[in-house]
Amino acid sequence: MDLLELETARKISLDEIASASDGAKVEALRIKYVGRNGSIPMLIKAMKDVPKEERPLFGKAVQAWKAEVEALLQSKQAVSSEKKIECDLSQPGRWFGFGLKHPLTRVIEETAAIFGKLGFTVADGPELENKFNNFTALNTPSHHPSMDKSDTFWFGEDCLLRTQTSPVQIRAMMANKPPVRVICPGRTYRRDTTDATHSANFHQIEGLYVDTLPEKPVSLADLKSVLAYFAREMMGDGVTVRFRPHFFPFTEPSVEVDFSCHVCKGRGCGVCKQSGWIEVAGAGMVDPRVFEHVGYDPAKVSGYAFGFGVERIAMIKYGIPDIRWLYENDVRFLSQLA
Ligand code: PHE
Repeated sequence: MDLLELETARKISLDEIASASDGAKVEALRIKYVGRNGSIPMLIKAMKDVPKEERPLFGKAVQAWKAEVEALLQSKQAVSSEKKIECDLSQPGRWFGFGLKHPLTRVIEETAAIFGKLGFTVADGPELENKFNNFTALNTPSHHPSMDKSDTFWFGEDCLLRTQTSPVQIRAMMANKPPVRVICPGRTYRRDTTDATHSANFHQIEGLYVDTLPEKPVSLADLKSVLAYFAREMMGDGVTVRFRPHFFPFTEPSVEVDFSCHVCKGRGCGVCKQSGWIEVAGAGMVDPRVFEHVGYDPAKVSGYAFGFGVERIAMIKYGIPDIRWLYENDVRFLSQLA
């Protein structure tokens, strides 16, 4: 190649690069001219064949050509990446479907946080229980209807799907010396026909506080104040609690716990069926027989327990009329509770 040919090749290369219309073409031309086996490096390699007296001039021209090609390539590459960005920006925005926690999970987590502030920790227990933990230790007489095959899912004589989270009370007391201060959220099972307010599989949260006598007596007043605090934190300021006498085999005295209606503030509305109150939990002072079953001396301890349905709290809190909506996993419903 002589200087004239070099000049022609230079012009062609610059024209080609200048008219390259996209990044891929620019890249192909980079390889063609300045790549490892490109025309310019090849020419530099072949420099020794150029007659000695022409070499300086020729070499200078080749180096100048190389610099020009590289500069042009660089400016083209910059433009094409700018174009790419512009192109992205002009695309319609992408929809990110931010997930949110299921209302049942939220109620459980909020409950754990509220009781956590009062010093309660979260205890866990298995869904498949034995008769002792689910019934006997909880002072349930053998003729109690909940023991019946038509009420409980039994697997043989001594194995069942727990009907309540109360067996976790038993486990917590058997595993620890007082003071015991736990809440136990989890799944429970009953042979219920599923309708708008019942489900054969639902969730409960059990609470238990036991402390030593005579230094730290636990009373029904403590229970009421703790549940009143929970009511306010969970349902909003102004919500109060009331106790109604009831019966549970494992507590004495036993109460049913109502929250004042958070919608009508107790005046009476459709949500509270005009009563101003919503039934929320069962509770009471732990029966001395239960203490005996777990190896505590009833003369040396006292405590309270309570239990409520997670679905029930979620339905009241979020105004959900049908329990089944909580299990259908329909995003159109769940996303409304954001
Ligand atoms: N386990 C009872 C139920 O399922 C609720 C409860 C728990 C009542 C603790 C008193 C004390 O109905």
